[in-house]
Amino acid sequence: MGRVEGKVALVTGGASGIGLSAANLLAKEGAKVVIGDFNVEGAKEAAANIKANGGEATGIFLDASKEESIKEAVDFTVNTYGTLTVLYNNVGLTNLQKDLDVVNIDLDEWDRLMNVNTKSVLLGSRYAIPHMQKAGGGSIINTASMAGFAGDTLRSAYGASKAAVVNLTKYIAAQYGKDNIRCNAVAPGLIMTPAAEKNLPPAVQDIFLKYNAVKHHGKADDIGNTVLFLASDEAGFITGQTIKVDGGHYMTNPSISDFKEYMASLQK
Ligand SMILES: NC(=O)c1ccc[n+]([C@@H]2O[C@H](COP(=O)([O-])OP(=O)(O)OC[C@H]3O[C@@H](n4cnc5c(N)ncnc54)[C@H](O)[C@@H]3O)[C@@H](O)[C@H]2O)c1
Repeated sequence: MGRVEGKVALVTGGASGIGLSAANLLAKEGAKVVIGDFNVEGAKEAAANIKANGGEATGIFLDASKEESIKEAVDFTVNTYGTLTVLYNNVGLTNLQKDLDVVNIDLDEWDRLMNVNTKSVLLGSRYAIPHMQKAGGGSIINTASMAGFAGDTLRSAYGASKAAVVNLTKYIAAQYGKDNIRCNAVAPGLIMTPAAEKNLPPAVQDIFLKYNAVKHHGKADDIGNTVLFLASDEAGFITGQTIKVDGGHYMTNPSISDFKEYMASLQK
């Protein structure tokens, strides 16, 4: 018996990276999975791979910036598999060119990121919750980010949108716990998805590694496995939480290791 046997999951942004890992792991552990993605070909290919491995999945088009599209994905899931008991709100965007400091940020980009990163979580939950209530319960999992716990010199909108996801997670948990609906989030640090690997030069990857407590990069499955746990009944008493999965990157005061390095350099 799989860890999420009998559950029906909708995964947004499941054609690649973190969402793809979660979709694969949920299906491997017995859930029926709908993969919704802008990249419909990728979503269909992911579903076909799951089926080829003996699981059950369907790939569909989803635009998480559009309310109607989110509603359609929820309806499709229920019409196809009879219910919806796991919702993974995973779609999220970042933009290093336009999402800058508060004085210089492109305001259209602020609106776009708030819409895609935060409002999509609200909307997915809004349309899924009535089905979960009917089913006697469910689990909503949101992708936040460690950027939602930090302040930084750029990515104001990304950080604020993900901080909002952390708190919205608690509101959903507080409001629907009575219906046996749990809501949690996962906050990834840098995860080496194929896109991250392609976009970050090795020197930048090394900067991140330097501040990890464990000396390796995060993988999509590190997040996928956390999502699987939160979706399963093993996490039945966990709600309103954001689990940080960052290799300890944000755990320490970075000045201390730099200070130690400086002191050591004086003794040379
Ligand atoms: N990779 C990291 O280091 C990292 C770190 C912290 C948080 N996150 C968060 O994890 C989530 C997934 O990121 P990832 O790195 O796996 O990204 P990714 O780019 O590998 O995958 C994102 C997927 O979402 C889809 N998508 C994008 N916009 C969409 C939209 N409007 N509607 C539907 N689908 C859409 C893309 O087609 C893609 O398949 C995001 O919320 C991101 O903010 C990632």
